[in-house]
Amino acid sequence: MYTVGIITASDKGSKGQREDLSGKAIKDIVASKGYKLLRQVIVPDEEDELIKEMKYMADELKIDLILTTGGTGFSKRDVTPEASMKVFTRQAPGIAEAIRYYSLSITPRAMLSRAVSGIRNDTLIINLPGSPKAVKEALEYAIDSIEHGLGILTGKENECAR
Ligand code: MTE
Repeated sequence: MYTVGIITASDKGSKGQREDLSGKAIKDIVASKGYKLLRQVIVPDEEDELIKEMKYMADELKIDLILTTGGTGFSKRDVTPEASMKVFTRQAPGIAEAIRYYSLSITPRAMLSRAVSGIRNDTLIINLPGSPKAVKEALEYAIDSIEHGLGILTGKENECAR
């Protein structure tokens, strides 16, 4: 069983002015796949706060998978990819690329997602878009491959099954 942390990047959500439906969508999907949720937070769209939270989940809580939602678009306040890239120790761009590629078959606006994915030591970090609809589409598509990647990363699986 893998552990998961969920970070919603949202100025309004962090002030209680908007219900966090995207965080809830992630929670429901990971629960249905048997992941253990260790921490779920809403933080404002501030690079420093996002970095602090990702480091806490990865370095202190040793969480296997961190999923973020929000802050991947073109608004001036959208800084989730920049914060994520600052905590990665290794790149894993294929997951974000695959999600974008798949999402383009649903909406051309998927090209506006600046989401990134990468690894911090033993933790996989993946940005998902901000809307509950987009989160569901992206995560349901990627979750089985993510799980295989976690197996390799944590050493629970030692071969890439083809
Ligand atoms: N991906 C999927 N699968 N479905 C969507 O509806 N919306 C896009 C994109 N990715 C979308 C999607 C839109 S409209 C934007 S602006 C970007 O994600 C960034 O979203 P964010 O700023 O909410 O993170």
